[in-house]
Amino acid sequence: MVNIKLKNINKNFGEVAAAKSVNLFIEDGEFFTLLGPSGCGKTTIMRMIAGLEYPDEGTILFDGKDVTKEPSFKRNTGMVFQNYALWPHMSVEENVAYGLKIRKFNEAEIKKRVTEALEQVKLTGMGKRFPTQLSGGQQQRVALARVLVINPSVLLLDEPLSNLDAKLRVEMREEIKELQKRLGITTVYVTHDQEEALIISDRIAVQNKGEIKQIGTPLEIYDHPKDVFIATFIGKGTLLQGSISEKNKVNVDNYYLSYTNNLELKEGDKVNVLIRPESFVLNKPSEESNRLEGIIESITFVGQYTELKIVIGNFSIIVNTSPKTILNKNEKIVGYVPYGNTILLPYEELV
Ligand SMILES: Nc1ncnc2c1ncn2[C@@H]1O[C@H](COP(=O)(O)OP(=O)(O)OP(=O)(O)O)[C@@H](O)[C@H]1O
Ligand SMILES: [Mg+2]
Repeated sequence: MVNIKLKNINKNFGEVAAAKSVNLFIEDGEFFTLLGPSGCGKTTIMRMIAGLEYPDEGTILFDGKDVTKEPSFKRNTGMVFQNYALWPHMSVEENVAYGLKIRKFNEAEIKKRVTEALEQVKLTGMGKRFPTQLSGGQQQRVALARVLVINPSVLLLDEPLSNLDAKLRVEMREEIKELQKRLGITTVYVTHDQEEALIISDRIAVQNKGEIKQIGTPLEIYDHPKDVFIATFIGKGTLLQGSISEKNKVNVDNYYLSYTNNLELKEGDKVNVLIRPESFVLNKPSEESNRLEGIIESITFVGQYTELKIVIGNFSIIVNTSPKTILNKNEKIVGYVPYGNTILLPYEELV
């Protein structure tokens, strides 16, 4: 297995900067996700790691060895494409065996490895079928087996679940995560689905317009987003504008909220304040918290939780409560947001 380093990578397609000064270090055995909106350059980075695309500038290292100019077949990466790209005229077995055949493995070894790979993705007994005789989820597994069979040192998965229905997506993401941990294979995963990224990854790089905006564990990125783009792209929440008043307080429309935060701020500085829906709680928590009092403007039952819109002075916040709590529209409500969940972000104009 290997670790991967990308140093100052730039890649342009005509006018489009698909990768701008990208620096990444992916640990050996890590499940690393590239997350960002459509067109931000995720696939481009993945293809450069695979050697299917070359950077205009910068260096790519595998275990410290410069592979920037090495062609794909020398890198021992295995990539699963979004559309699976299975060969329709070949059976499942033949699809999976293909990579071994072109690498000139003998028949016995091929048979052994194909059987193993199909077992790994829970397709034992389906080897004789053709891709058209499989469900989307099963085709997805064949695509995965076809890559695993060559024992790649890096697994590259480009939106592998996007063609599956919601329930199967949840099932498959658990399976992929479990398989990845069991094999201990360095994995780069591409998705634009923030929930999937939070659940499946060891670490996430959030990308926008060719640039990496933040790298961290799912929890770090959720709890400490670096800016408004990341805060709104990942998770939900209410964004408010305020300014720093006295020490460690932010004035939001004359409500003075305390926060814990390491932004360098001085009195008078404008900031944005993020409050996640689950941060507002009805029972006073043990940690220090801001008390907020408002009027319930709307109540929406969402299933696992109930979403409330609460008007507080001239602003409103969206919060989640338990569906078991009996609440009424236009009722007064009091809740608490811990200082640690009163998240300050560098000021920018909110649209
Ligand atoms: N071969 C190419 N020729 C010209 N432009 C390209 C090429 N490949 C990618 N681009 C452009 O580079 C940008 C990044 O593309 P990329 O496919 O990496 O995005 P992505 O984040 O994977 O998007 P999606 O989520 O839609 O798959 C886009 O603006 C795209 O149009
Ligand atoms: Mg893509």
